[in-house]
Amino acid sequence: MKDAAPAAPQPIRLEDYTPFPWEVEAVSLSFALSPDATRVTSRIRFVPKPGAPAQMFLHGEDLTPISTKIDGQDVVVVPTEGGINVPVPESAFTWEAVVEVNPAANTALEGLYMSNGMYCTQCEAEGFRKITYYPDRPDVMAPFKVRIESDLPVLLSNGNPAGAGEGFAEWHDPHPKPAYLFALVAGELVAHSDTFTTASGASVDLNIWVRPGDEDKCAYAMDALIRSMRWDEEVYGREYDLDVFNIVAVDDFNMGAMENKGLNIFNSKYVLASPETATDADFASIEAIIAHEYFHNWTGNRITCRDWFQLCLKEGLTVFRDQQFSADMRSAPVQRIQDVLTLRARQFREDAGPLAHNVRPESYVEINNFYTATVYEKGAEVIGMLRTLIEDDAYQAGCTLYFDRHDGQACTIEDWLACFEEVTATDLSQFKRWYSQAGTPKVTARWGAEGDEFALHLSQEVPPTPNQPMKEPAVIPVRLALYNSGKEVVGETLAVLDGPEMRLSWPLDVVGSGDVTPSLLRGFSAPVILDAPTTFGQRLALMRDDTDPFNRWEAGRSVVREDLLNMIRGQGFVATGLLTSLEIVLRDTSVDPAFRALMFALPSGDDLAQACVDAGMVPDPSLIHAKRKEMQRAIAEAMTDELIRQYEANATAGPYSPAAGPAAQRSLRNTCLGYLTAVEGPVRALAQYEAATNMTDQMAAFGRLVEAGDPDIAARFEAQWKDDRLVMDKWFMSQMALADPNAAVDTAARLTEHSLFDYKNPNRFRSVIAGLTAGNPAGFHHPSGAGYRFVADWLLKLDAINPQTTARMSTAFDSWKRYDADRQALMLAELERMAAAEGLSRDLGEMVSRMRGA
Ligand code: TRP
Ligand code: ZN
Repeated sequence: MKDAAPAAPQPIRLEDYTPFPWEVEAVSLSFALSPDATRVTSRIRFVPKPGAPAQMFLHGEDLTPISTKIDGQDVVVVPTEGGINVPVPESAFTWEAVVEVNPAANTALEGLYMSNGMYCTQCEAEGFRKITYYPDRPDVMAPFKVRIESDLPVLLSNGNPAGAGEGFAEWHDPHPKPAYLFALVAGELVAHSDTFTTASGASVDLNIWVRPGDEDKCAYAMDALIRSMRWDEEVYGREYDLDVFNIVAVDDFNMGAMENKGLNIFNSKYVLASPETATDADFASIEAIIAHEYFHNWTGNRITCRDWFQLCLKEGLTVFRDQQFSADMRSAPVQRIQDVLTLRARQFREDAGPLAHNVRPESYVEINNFYTATVYEKGAEVIGMLRTLIEDDAYQAGCTLYFDRHDGQACTIEDWLACFEEVTATDLSQFKRWYSQAGTPKVTARWGAEGDEFALHLSQEVPPTPNQPMKEPAVIPVRLALYNSGKEVVGETLAVLDGPEMRLSWPLDVVGSGDVTPSLLRGFSAPVILDAPTTFGQRLALMRDDTDPFNRWEAGRSVVREDLLNMIRGQGFVATGLLTSLEIVLRDTSVDPAFRALMFALPSGDDLAQACVDAGMVPDPSLIHAKRKEMQRAIAEAMTDELIRQYEANATAGPYSPAAGPAAQRSLRNTCLGYLTAVEGPVRALAQYEAATNMTDQMAAFGRLVEAGDPDIAARFEAQWKDDRLVMDKWFMSQMALADPNAAVDTAARLTEHSLFDYKNPNRFRSVIAGLTAGNPAGFHHPSGAGYRFVADWLLKLDAINPQTTARMSTAFDSWKRYDADRQALMLAELERMAAAEGLSRDLGEMVSRMRGA
């Protein structure tokens, strides 16, 4: 199944875009399913556009051709790189092809494949070409009719049902769509069903299809789907447009989920949930991903991308929409803090290293390598900044114009921005730099009294990134307020920094003299790194007084980080001012417990490694690990009684509910448990483990017991959950992430030898391998280099069967330049070993070459 790498794969470039010379008027597909020889018959009506040539290129990979015809006559096709060339007539014609594919042998999980006896497909970005010959590009949109022949009881495809009988089913999708949205599922499945009535009164059948035995784990996903459908009507005026909406849960899946028209396919991790098996975080992800895929129906499907360079057109916008939805369903400040944590952990890291790229890239070798935090998360931030700059009414008007004008089209970022330029009568060409400049801008703030004014100076700099040495100033919305001695003296205003620097000023008699403190970048109004000379004491004050909850949290986090950096430098210990402020937060029952829990979450090892780099130090992951533990213990010792009080006060009574309120209490309670275990030992965790009636509490206690080295806990957990795949993923992940860094590679080796370790299942592979690389940085970066070797060995093994997941996971090596010379050499050696491996996939080949800086 390997994509054999050609000697030097040619990059695809945005500037080379040309339209496809034919319209596809109609597609009709027929599948005779069989595990190792599925027959696919296609009938496609092509209509030439003016100037169409005499030869047509169709994509096709790993297909066994049986016959190819034009208008009923056999036609000889010429195999070429990635497909075939077909001599075609000058006027409209019908192409018919019969091919065979082998779903049982498809371990890459792209195209038509099998998972636990069930047939399913994954076509984004370029998987349809592994199903039949086709112009597999997103700007070719057509209505599809599908016939499926199989003895399996449930046969699904896109669109509306159009007839079924003994051994077959037919589906018609009237909405023209690109091939990447095609889907087919067949299997022994059961449905959890409901109905939805749209705002205009149409009734939609909703089904979530799962394997028998899982039907009692679908209620939450269904509830999230119904809330998403209602929300998109209310907030964006978008209604659903078919008679049915099907979701299928699949165990073997490369990513989170896929928005195929009318037939979303999900990694079962993001569908199946019960209180006993899923954590609060799982419930929140299910809600967000169900919403994300549903929202794609308009932002992605009805309006799609002209080419894959425009990926952020659908992904950035859809992430922005799912973040808005989650903020409306839950606590908006908590949602914002979590979104920024993810952005910094993944996107800032990407932007700071050799994989930095534009929100709209300009070239790629393998498009699957560009489903990145930059395209998704920074893409969403860019939409959020646009909304901040033009304000909500204009944002809504621009979106409505976009939906009206471009429905049924394949569009570009220019098309999107033009709608907002039109409704606001402004020129967004400078704003557009957010799409074409990689790197995280740095905003520097300086302030003080100047004559009878208080002046605030803001300046910006966008750092150089690979192939982009010089940058132009971005348009940076900075929400800010001014504080003086705990009082807000200037209420929130928006400053737009669109040049290299700007000066803002207020009369001193308004702000007062003395300790004026700006609260900058409220709500994280732009994805930038802020350098402000706010003192330790001023940050502690903001942590207490700031009326912007995001900045309240940000102030707390920045003092914790600063303190930890001092400890890492060997200069200090936990500041008493910090401890006092943290305890005030802990006691403040007027504040959402989830917010208080976030205030107590220490920056991750990776966050601190980057903080070391930013402060001019070389990060030592083992030292960082030790200092985090030391801070945790210091906090726990300083406020043990209050931690116990909050642990007890936040016990939730009654049956489990995944709602934000009780979930927030569990998050604070389990945060307290973490600190308390550091001073009390594992007694409390053991008691909680034994009493737990939901996975959130069981998992939290399990983690503490693993850390404490409880000799029986892993076996106990395994005995209880060995038959539940998703729960066992947590078992693998948690043991890996929480292993003593010095024993991490041994733990990884032991876990990969476990009878339930299956490297072909992406979730299971990630549990252990990402459990090490992301979950246990001190173990991965062990000075011996054993972590690097272990991970590279597994990447090479997986690459032979699933290049897409391998390439994504290879980003563990993208931070190599941060470290000391020894670690750099060890990491680079593994990158070079991978680069030189025989039969390396195009996917992993591109990643490794970018990471090496080649
Ligand atoms: N479009 C999907 C989403 O964001 C993600 C996706 C892209 C995907 N490529 C994939 C999912 C490959 C599975 C496999 O919702
Ligand atoms: Zn998406």
